[in-house]
Amino acid sequence: MIEVASELGVLRARVAQWKREGLRVGFVPTMGNLHAGHHSLVALARAHADRVVASVFVNPTQFGPNEDFSRYPRTPGADAEGLAASGCDLLWLPSVATMYPFGPEATVRVQVPGITEVLEGAHRPGHFDGVATVVARLFNQVQPDVAAFGRKDWQQLAVIRYLVRDLAFPLELLAGETLREADGLAMSSRNQYLAPAERAAAPALHRALLGVRAAMEAGREREAAEAEAVSALRDAGFVVDYVAVRRPGLELPGPRESGEFVVLAAARLGTTRLIDNLEFTLRW
Ligand code: PAJ
Repeated sequence: MIEVASELGVLRARVAQWKREGLRVGFVPTMGNLHAGHHSLVALARAHADRVVASVFVNPTQFGPNEDFSRYPRTPGADAEGLAASGCDLLWLPSVATMYPFGPEATVRVQVPGITEVLEGAHRPGHFDGVATVVARLFNQVQPDVAAFGRKDWQQLAVIRYLVRDLAFPLELLAGETLREADGLAMSSRNQYLAPAERAAAPALHRALLGVRAAMEAGREREAAEAEAVSALRDAGFVVDYVAVRRPGLELPGPRESGEFVVLAAARLGTTRLIDNLEFTLRW
């Protein structure tokens, strides 16, 4: 059985007890509706810690006014069961009032500059402020030694790295690989919004990213590779927000550059917005 804490005092007492015993505490923040991708982060945290805390909190401050906050899937029973099975010791399940004692509108906000203003940040204004705000709070509440995040949300991971370094949180970050369905679609709580025909079209997103990598490996220009991916996505029925090849610090790559790259994409099928990315290396 997994322990569930909804009061800050209960969480703090348990973590303090573990620390007195000299145990290393791992942490996996989530918004619930957990799938194998989340469970893989619990396993990753477990491999670097003696005890693992996972949080489930659908964070109102990271959703835009026209986004899916109210209809975001909430499955607390199944989440607790899955966490217990994946080796999590404690489920931190705060209410909105516990997370934001002065209310979500009157909270102290944490704003990471620069990288939050492009790509996802440009298409979802305020989103990363909400993420940084809640993650800073979660770190203060749980006080983990190590915390695991997924590469699936590549830009979010970059924001969290900046946050941890700049605010000097005394913890180590772990980055988990993206878990995919057999047809390549990255696992996501939002996949269940897809109607059957949309679900059948969705793997085109991962294929488009593989196409960008192949084109860049074959020496195509970045802009041409991106444009081909956009038209492949349109042919599959997507409305495309962006397909963008960047360096690891989100800088624009120059022509025929060697080194590490990431191609990031966001596109919509009907009302469902999907994101994905692929990291790759070029050597000329
Ligand atoms: P959520 O979307 O629930 O994701 C929780 C964690 O699971 C994130 O670190 C995310 O990158 C990771 N994840 C999602 N899909 C994955 C997949 N297919 N494979 C591997 N990891 C995956 O991201 C959030 O919640 C929130 O923004 C949060 C950080 C909890 C702040 O509210």
